[in-house]
Amino acid sequence: MPARDVAAAGVSGTQTGTTPAAPDRYAVIGHPVAHSLSPRIHTLFARQTGQSLLYTAMDVTAGRLAPAVHEFFGRGGRGLNVTVPHKQAVMALADEATGRARRAGAANTLWRDAASGRLCADTTDGVGLVRDLVDNLHIRIAARRVLLLGAGGAARGVLEPLLACAPAVLLIANRTLERAAALAAQWAGAGPVRAAPLELPDEAPFDLIIHATAAGLADEMPPLPARLVTPTTLCYDMTYGRRESPFIRWARHSGAQLCHMGLGMLVEQAAESFRLWRGIRPQTAPVLAALRAAGEAL
Ligand code: ATR
Repeated sequence: MPARDVAAAGVSGTQTGTTPAAPDRYAVIGHPVAHSLSPRIHTLFARQTGQSLLYTAMDVTAGRLAPAVHEFFGRGGRGLNVTVPHKQAVMALADEATGRARRAGAANTLWRDAASGRLCADTTDGVGLVRDLVDNLHIRIAARRVLLLGAGGAARGVLEPLLACAPAVLLIANRTLERAAALAAQWAGAGPVRAAPLELPDEAPFDLIIHATAAGLADEMPPLPARLVTPTTLCYDMTYGRRESPFIRWARHSGAQLCHMGLGMLVEQAAESFRLWRGIRPQTAPVLAALRAAGEAL
């Protein structure tokens, strides 16, 4: 059974004589995926840069991941974005992966190398987060105290670029302490990274708190002490949506005045995927503004 396309958005192909050229096909693959803004974002990028492509969303369960990916590329598909819950599993399907994807143990971008035909994987999530923080929100990470909440796939993908920004400390706090400790051990050589349980006993306030747990999916919030936050703490939720997440509501209630959801990260990681596929980097600011003006996300 072919993967089901649940959303489609396209940019018409260029005309050669009277025959329209078929647009290059891309998709985001995940489960669930109907809510994904990636088709909108890549369609806006394509219009902006004059590229001919069709980008859809494919709802694929874990058991169907491998056949769906191979079928997509076998039928001439040019590239896939990979989202929850497949970012780690997809690494096993790739013939090659970039160093940052291998170290993260996760990928969100796939393409077939034109010369060798090999399936390649990369992760653009971490770059997307840091670009949103540094370029869009003008946050300085160097020498700052950074708290990363969560130690799953979402957290793994952003550790390397965060540490490359040279924070004073990067504390990974997780419900299951062992997972945070394993990540901290893996990255110990790259910077001042430590692990802690979510209760965070004896910790002073942080300059930047990044929420990367899956608790919000169940409308839950990790039980964090409010003393971690001051009015100047920037609180960032890596998820996006039309409503503020439980984490952002907690942050505001705790006194944070600088709170952001992850739409900027989504658009920035998409721009990096687009660059990998098309060799051209679209401007992100107009796309972010258009999505916000349309009420697609905060
Ligand atoms: P993802 O790829 O979205 O990160 P994951 O790999 O399943 O998904 O990781 C989910 C993360 O959210 C983990 O850090 C998980 O904590 P555990 O390692 O203890 O499982 C965290 N998480 C999920 N639900 C949570 C909740 N209700 N409260 C706190 N943390 C939660």
